[in-house]
Amino acid sequence: MIGQAEGDDRSILFLTSSSGSSQPIQRLRSAGWHVISCNPGQESVEGIDLCQIGIVHFQKFNAEFIAFLENMFGRYPDIRWIALVEKNQLENSRIKTLISENFHDFHTMPIDLDRLNVILGHAYGFNRLVHDAKRNEHLKVIDEYGIVGVSQQIAHLRNLIRKAATTDSPVLILGESGTGKELVASAIHAQSAKRDGPFIAVNCASLPATLIQSELFGYEKGAFTGAESRKIGLIESAAGGTLFLDEIGDLSASLQVNLLRFLQEKRITRVGGHEEIPVNARVIAATNLDLESEIESEAFRKDLYYRLNVIQIKTASLRERREDIEHLARHFLEKFRSERKRGKIGFSAEAIMAMHQYDWPGNVRELSNKILRALIIAEGRAITAADLELAGSRASQIITSLDEVRSEAEARAIVKMIIFTKKNMSETARLLGVTRATLYRLIAKHNLLASAQRDDNEASLTAREG
Ligand SMILES: Nc1ncnc2c1ncn2[C@@H]1O[C@H](COP(=O)(O)OP(=O)(O)OP(=O)(O)O)[C@@H](O)[C@H]1O
Ligand SMILES: [Mg+2]
Repeated sequence: MIGQAEGDDRSILFLTSSSGSSQPIQRLRSAGWHVISCNPGQESVEGIDLCQIGIVHFQKFNAEFIAFLENMFGRYPDIRWIALVEKNQLENSRIKTLISENFHDFHTMPIDLDRLNVILGHAYGFNRLVHDAKRNEHLKVIDEYGIVGVSQQIAHLRNLIRKAATTDSPVLILGESGTGKELVASAIHAQSAKRDGPFIAVNCASLPATLIQSELFGYEKGAFTGAESRKIGLIESAAGGTLFLDEIGDLSASLQVNLLRFLQEKRITRVGGHEEIPVNARVIAATNLDLESEIESEAFRKDLYYRLNVIQIKTASLRERREDIEHLARHFLEKFRSERKRGKIGFSAEAIMAMHQYDWPGNVRELSNKILRALIIAEGRAITAADLELAGSRASQIITSLDEVRSEAEARAIVKMIIFTKKNMSETARLLGVTRATLYRLIAKHNLLASAQRDDNEASLTAREG
């Protein structure tokens, strides 16, 4: 349904070149709109994030106001913009271009409230349409278990998870580091009949060899010095739920035997105990090692492998499913941004390209780490490839050089036109289709003062290029 979400006020962001409440604002308010007004120099007014529509009142049209508008357009990409203009302003080519490139519609002064209301209603409807479409898009990208992705591999993975969840058989999850093995295990648990029981994750690689037997199986009082009371082990505490044995490939030979016995008999004996205790925990194991070659080198027991490998799930590396990269990146950015209560922030085009290009040896975990780090150090409103430490990549070099080419072309056109008009700046601006203010801004940006003041050859520009 397209419409107003709960508590979703219809709000207008009103941008003018001067401060103070103007007559149009009062009229909009009297017509029932919630209006937030903002002008250059006070760009961070509370509540802007919630506005669906923006009105730009073109009173003064100078470089400062243009820069202010460009900043606001970039900062609030979801706002639908409407221009309030005087009829004669529509003859200004710069205003015309600005409106055609950035605005949903325009209204010529004086305000005809009925007509303006229709435009505003339409813009509001459009904003909601895009908003709802984006939300649905996001729902498809992330499922209820927090698995993000749109690739074939992720669709297949979700299918396997669903199937594995309907049985109680052991599952073996294989995949490179950071590909989501633990996430898969928890998704299976969450969909399974044991979902109300505990999910106990055990990292077989991080438990000290001397402790692992008693950690897994528990011990009886007096089993060894220091065992002052009975302790329930991790396997037993997973009863009625799921036991996730992570890094199973790192399990010692003797523990492999004990674990095999548990898998065969569904019973354990605590260290120092004699009683066999039945434990109905579902077992999911994972490793990033190649178990078949571990078996070949006799580091891993073949019989244990067969016991665990009843249902096998492989998690694909990120470079095999590059279409998920951007979705994951946006997911993590939004997650960390809201956890840290940061304002709006996105990725630069160059950052997206660089992420697509990179091979992600550490997979999703590496992506998530890079984004968290970038969010902390990023200064602008877009995370750059440099913030992600991906600046040296080929993609970012291509983009950089595109920018350079564009910039060179711009500088060259300005110098040529200045020479052509014999340094008549108004004429130069008119022919280039920019205001004088913009022309001076570009001259300063490209450091063309020398070029413009020197005479009519292109020596200075050529020198600059060289
Ligand atoms: N498809 C995905 N969607 C959302 N988050 C994901 C996805 N895959 C992995 N993650 C996240 O990436 C991080 C690493 O995933 P996880 O710990 O499950 O990987 P792993 O394969 O167990 O890695 P390791 O081998 O290093 O233990 C976690 O924060 C996890 O939530
Ligand atoms: Mg893991």
